[in-house]
Amino acid sequence: MRIKVTVKDNNLVPGLAGIPAAESAISYIDGQVGVLEYRGLPIEVLAEKSTFEEVCWLLLYGKLPTQAELDTFKQQLVEQRAVPQKVFDLLAALPADGHPMAALSIGYNALGMTSAPCNVLDSAARQLAYAQLIASTPVLIAAHSRLRQGKKVVPTDPKLDIAADFLWMLNGEKPADLVARVLDVALILHADHTMNASTFTGRVVASTEADPYAVCAAAVGSLSGPLHGGANERVLQQLEKIGSAAAVPAWLDKQLADKGKIMGFGHRVYKTKDPRATCIQGLVREMFAQHGTTPIYDTALKLEECVLERLGDKGIHPNVDFFSGIVYQKMGIPTDVFTPIFAIARVAGWLAHWDEQMQDNRLFRPSQIFVGLRGVTYTPIAER
Ligand code: CMC
Repeated sequence: MRIKVTVKDNNLVPGLAGIPAAESAISYIDGQVGVLEYRGLPIEVLAEKSTFEEVCWLLLYGKLPTQAELDTFKQQLVEQRAVPQKVFDLLAALPADGHPMAALSIGYNALGMTSAPCNVLDSAARQLAYAQLIASTPVLIAAHSRLRQGKKVVPTDPKLDIAADFLWMLNGEKPADLVARVLDVALILHADHTMNASTFTGRVVASTEADPYAVCAAAVGSLSGPLHGGANERVLQQLEKIGSAAAVPAWLDKQLADKGKIMGFGHRVYKTKDPRATCIQGLVREMFAQHGTTPIYDTALKLEECVLERLGDKGIHPNVDFFSGIVYQKMGIPTDVFTPIFAIARVAGWLAHWDEQMQDNRLFRPSQIFVGLRGVTYTPIAER
């Protein structure tokens, strides 16, 4: 006998849109007017005046650091850049054409396997993990990028801050000051963003009292998808496929007729232009003023204009991923390393949320609306 269960009281909210999953004091968004603040400080101010290291401290400890606190934190970050050789050996053994986000997830798990156990209920132990995970993320990404090309790992340079050191480890060349500063600002802009999919994933994993390596590995998986952090590399592929500003209107007509998504546009929370996209556009202009423009930017501007004409009324505007790939491409960074750069920044937010979750933890265990069958009679395999 089969009983089909029907749902009488259907209060499911797809994608949990608008449903609070936690109380958080880390970042704040007003999606109607395009405001993003970290610990009450507007993102535009931080992009202009701060550094990624300072922003990490701000997110993790709730206030701007004193000079002495920042110096100690930066020293800790430098010390924690040491990644065990066994982890590099593992990265070297991965398929060369595999995605760097998968390698990062493996790297986090391997780091966990080679590190002392972390008592996640102890706030001092959590603080030690902050520095290790923030410092090792760029090392893992740069090392994997070189190893997959058959090149040697470039050792970290303790005199360089995270952004400049990442470019050094990736390319084996010291970056120009402007290039390092532009990447530093991009990291600031991506460091936290309320209850996004990867942060939510991290908090769910944290709520089981799993270690921070498992939290970050799971969050990386979530970030990799094209609707989340993976959009930045898709944006560049999309602009390259369109080919020129003149080709935009016809491409957009077809894309919308086929019900395709325009990558780099739309956001669950912002119904106006993402303030991070505006900041990154400023970085694009700075890069172009010093290093020359690229035709792909004209294609992007035309696409923005046409999408706003067609979809602006629905609240669909450029998001953070729309211009970031153009900047990274200008820096000579491979397209599939764009989303890992997002992770270099967002690991700070994941860890701040991990800490917040552990301060008042309750296991995430939502309910479901059951819509399946019950009371099914088992049919032996020979009779099916
Ligand atoms: N292109 C075309 N139509 C869109 C887009 C888009 N980029 N975004 C939303 N829509 C339409 C969608 O088709 C739907 O239309 P209808 O109501 O007619 O069915 C409506 O807008 C609502 O879309 P949704 O997907 O239900 O809205 P959401 O709040 O779940 O979407 C989103 C958020 C980011 C998943 C979506 O805007 C999207 O897929 N954008 C493209 C991918 C992208 O750029 N992602 C990066 C997000 S920002 C960085 C980050 O947080 O990681």
